Amino acid sequence: MQIGPHTITPPVVLAPMAGVTDKPFRVLCKRLGAGLCVSEMTTADPRLWHTQKSRLRRDHEGEPAPVSVQIAGYDPHMLAEAARFNVDHGAQLIDINMGCPAKKVCKVDAGSALLRDEALVARILAAVVAAVPVPVTLKIRTGWDRDHRNGVAVARIAEACGIKALAVHGRTRADLYQGEAEYDTIAAIKSAVQIPVLANGDIDSPEQAARVLQATGADAVMIGRAAQGRPWIFREIAHYLATGLHLPAPTPDEVCAVLVGHLEHLHAFYGDVPGVRIARKHLGWYCKDHPGAEAFRAAVNAASSAAEQLRLTRAHFERLETALAA
Ligand SMILES: Cc1cc2nc3c(=O)[nH]c(=O)nc-3n(C[C@H](O)[C@H](O)[C@H](O)COP(=O)(O)O)c2cc1C
Repeated sequence: MQIGPHTITPPVVLAPMAGVTDKPFRVLCKRLGAGLCVSEMTTADPRLWHTQKSRLRRDHEGEPAPVSVQIAGYDPHMLAEAARFNVDHGAQLIDINMGCPAKKVCKVDAGSALLRDEALVARILAAVVAAVPVPVTLKIRTGWDRDHRNGVAVARIAEACGIKALAVHGRTRADLYQGEAEYDTIAAIKSAVQIPVLANGDIDSPEQAARVLQATGADAVMIGRAAQGRPWIFREIAHYLATGLHLPAPTPDEVCAVLVGHLEHLHAFYGDVPGVRIARKHLGWYCKDHPGAEAFRAAVNAASSAAEQLRLTRAHFERLETALAA
C-alpha cells in the first residue's frame, strides 16, 4: 500500500488506541511485523500541549519511519495548527480522528461526532491538508448511526480534499463497540474512491484478515484490540496473507522475552512509578489465557517497583515452562 511517498508493507497496520499505542508498543509492533503503527490520539487543543502526557506523546526518538500521529479536535484552524506542530516534532503522516465515539471526544463534537456535519468535515480536511507537507490520512466509522451510514459520502469528500488514505471501522458511531463489525459499507467505500482504504473492526486472526480483504477489496487491514498482549499478530497475518500458511505460535520463552522487553521499555519511557502502573494492563493482556493467570495478576499488580514487576513476570514464565515440560 502506498501513502504518499511511503510504501506500507506488509499491509497490516496497528490501529490508534488511546492509552495503548504509545511509543513502546508501536516500536514493538513494528519490530514484530506491522507495516505502520498509528499513535494514540493527541489533542488539537494547544492549552494541553505542554503537559507531561503530551510531551511523551510527541516523543518519536528512535521510532521507525513513517511516524504517524493522530490528531483529534473539531476546529479546522486548531487542527491545522496541531498538524503543523506534530510535523515539527517528527510526524511523517498526520491521521485525523473521525472514528472515536468516546464521550470525552464526542461531547465537543470531535471524533466520530464530526461525521454528522459533512460541510465541517470538508473544512477540517482541507485545512489540515493545506497546512502540512506530509500526507494526511483519515479514520472514520461507517456513519453516524445505522440510519445515517454516510461513509461513502465522507470518503468522497476526503478524496476530493486530498486525503491520502482512509481507515474505516465497520461500525457506526451509535454502535459504539456493540454487535459485529460489518464490511459491506467498507466495500462500498473502497469501490467509490481511488485512495487506499484500510479495513478495521474485529479482525483477530490471519483467516479473518484474509476474509475481510477479500470481502472489501481493501488495501490493508488495521488491527486494534487483537494486538493487545499479542503484538506478534502482525507477522502472523502478514505471513498468512503472503503464503497462505500459518507461522508457529511463539514459544513461552519468546513471549517472555517480548514481554520483558516491552516492560523494560515502558519503565524507561515513563519512569519507574508510572511505567509500572501503565505496564499492568499489558501484563494482564499477555497472560490472560495462561494457567494461573488470576493469581499471577493479583501478585504482579501488587508490585510497586520495576525490578519486582520484572522478577515476578520472569518467575511466572519459568513456572509455565516447568508445567509444560512436566
Ligand atoms: C482502548 C482503545 C482506545 C482507542 N483509541 C482510539 C483513538 O485514540 N483513536 C481512534 O481513532 N480510534 C481509537 N480506538 C478505536 C480503534 O482504533 C479501532 O477502530 C477499534 O478498536 C476497532 O478495531 P478492533 O476491532 O481491531 O479493535 C480505540 C479503541 C480502543 C479499544
